[in-house]
Amino acid sequence: MNARTPRRTTALRPAVPLVLLLAAAGVLLLGGCGVVDGVTGSGDSSTPSRREDIKVGLLLPDKDTARFERFDYPLIKSRVASLTGGKGKVVYANAEASASRQNKQFAQLVDDKVDVILVDAVDARAIAPGVRKAKDAGIPVIAYDRLAQGPIDAYVSHDNELVGEVQGRAIVDALGDKAATSKIVMMNGSPADPNTALFKEGALSELKGRVVIAKSYDTREWLPEVAKANMAKAIASVGLKNIAAVYSANDGMAGAVIDELEQSGATKLPPVTGQDANLDAVQRIVAGEQTMTVYKSFLLEAQGAAEMAVYKVQGRDIAFDAMTQDTIDSPTRKDIPAMLVPVVALTKSNIKDTVIKDGVYTVKDICTAKYAADCTAIGLK
Ligand code: GAL
Repeated sequence: MNARTPRRTTALRPAVPLVLLLAAAGVLLLGGCGVVDGVTGSGDSSTPSRREDIKVGLLLPDKDTARFERFDYPLIKSRVASLTGGKGKVVYANAEASASRQNKQFAQLVDDKVDVILVDAVDARAIAPGVRKAKDAGIPVIAYDRLAQGPIDAYVSHDNELVGEVQGRAIVDALGDKAATSKIVMMNGSPADPNTALFKEGALSELKGRVVIAKSYDTREWLPEVAKANMAKAIASVGLKNIAAVYSANDGMAGAVIDELEQSGATKLPPVTGQDANLDAVQRIVAGEQTMTVYKSFLLEAQGAAEMAVYKVQGRDIAFDAMTQDTIDSPTRKDIPAMLVPVVALTKSNIKDTVIKDGVYTVKDICTAKYAADCTAIGLK
């Protein structure tokens, strides 16, 4: 597993209002449910001399994390279409958290001779032989969100150590002057996901020496039910009343942790972190049940990936290089060209300036009847 700190050669690019980018990309955000849909054949499609009948293979890791099916896939599909006059296609498969299933899906894409593969690995190491085969077959591979091992051509993600730092800092801030004597529980992600080590490393850089880490768990395949079972163990061993905060690496697990705390009789929830800005997590933040989530502009990430894939196939090296101004090392390759999209801590106070401003959700999506009073209390209307 790669626990190395990403090494960047340039500063992170500034955040760009997503609505503008999405509009430029011909992507329509359907207000009612926040679902992303595509408008093809418009905007900046490539010049006629460029190849447009491109097949982009896209492999995403699981369905438990809402973003993949809800945003990443449709956004990539739309952007590929808009860049290719509607002729480019995305061949998509979801591994449903199984590394062996993803390896088969990967081999199938190579057999189908797609032009480029975007892969968000279930297991970064297990995917490496497949990446090698694609390379041998002349198919470029771009690692999406998680740094797949093997001879990948590029990487698009976030500064994942920073994600962990933002989460860890939120715990320390929430505990205030009680932090030093406070016992916390850490719910980390899947050990096969290289981001897990980076999230953890970033979080520990904020937590170590500032709080007492009473228990720390890795969570097989990021499964919420595994996190729930681990939370039950933590409560049994540390005691419900002694748990001052829970570091949860993502929102799916945060929901499970909160369920377990409530089922164990918690009347006042301790601070709980998250990541991914899932709709239910944003609602929990509104209701004061979850302290924060990390809002990663996966919209920018998805669009960046689609652009990199199309530019790669079309041989648009200048455009490709302009997008990948960072570099990163994996355990198997050095100086991988990378695009790292900024992250933001989302709390009660900036919902409007983040997910609403970017068109991810509408106020109506968040402020359903159950949350109406809490929304009014924080001025969300
Ligand atoms: C990470 C990803 C997160 C979250 C998690 C759970 O690699 O960066 O956004 O989705 O996986 O699958």
